Amino acid sequence: MAKIEALIFDLDGVIVDTAVYHYKAWRRLADELDIPFTEEDNEQLKGVSRVRSFDILLSLGRVEMPEQEKTSYRDKKNEWFVEYISSMQPADVLPGVTEFIHDLKSKGFKIVLGSASKNAVTVLKNVDLIEVFDAIVDGTHVSAAKPDPQVFLKGAEAVNVAPENCLVFEDAQAGVEAALNGGMFCVGVGDPAVLHKAHWVVPGIGSIEIKEFEEKISSL
Ligand code: BG6
Ligand code: MG
Repeated sequence: MAKIEALIFDLDGVIVDTAVYHYKAWRRLADELDIPFTEEDNEQLKGVSRVRSFDILLSLGRVEMPEQEKTSYRDKKNEWFVEYISSMQPADVLPGVTEFIHDLKSKGFKIVLGSASKNAVTVLKNVDLIEVFDAIVDGTHVSAAKPDPQVFLKGAEAVNVAPENCLVFEDAQAGVEAALNGGMFCVGVGDPAVLHKAHWVVPGIGSIEIKEFEEKISSL
């Protein structure tokens, strides 16, 4: 039986609802490029790096462009995203997440961030949640994007916990796969139809009862 010692949290769509800001910014770019882009298409971009996300968007529209032009479009998307997150506050943390994290930290679990975003630290500072993390691994520290497990493995290593003793919270298909590829347990946060590969799926962290959670992880 596994003993869960570290909890690794994805950021966008798990701790804060920034997934909607990413979608809004990609959508704005897609409109500019005349690429049809639906919320369903957006599932493929969730959890994926900025570079890979834009390549997926271009392939959806069968658009090709030189690398230099791609960089300027990606920068533009990021400027919009940074503008959207600039007014975020502690109240923008998804319901129940702050309490859940603090509660489990006080019970001795290591609290780790494992996000593809290069804006993770800005978001965590804006919502006043940065101090609770024992380790932060984000898009500035990794070379391989989810579903590669690198981001989570680095997080586990940073707190000195073996992968099989880690539990990841993820809202993206690519993120669930990354956790499983790293030999970790995974709680999907969102739609069970999308996240069915996870060990279990919840609609949001706020819906998890701590007692029930502890029972569940002790039976893994
Ligand atoms: C992930 C998001 O957390 O970070 C993706 O789910 C996003 O949608 C990726 O593309 C990279 O984020 P950023 O902020 O570095 O562009
Ligand atoms: Mg996410």
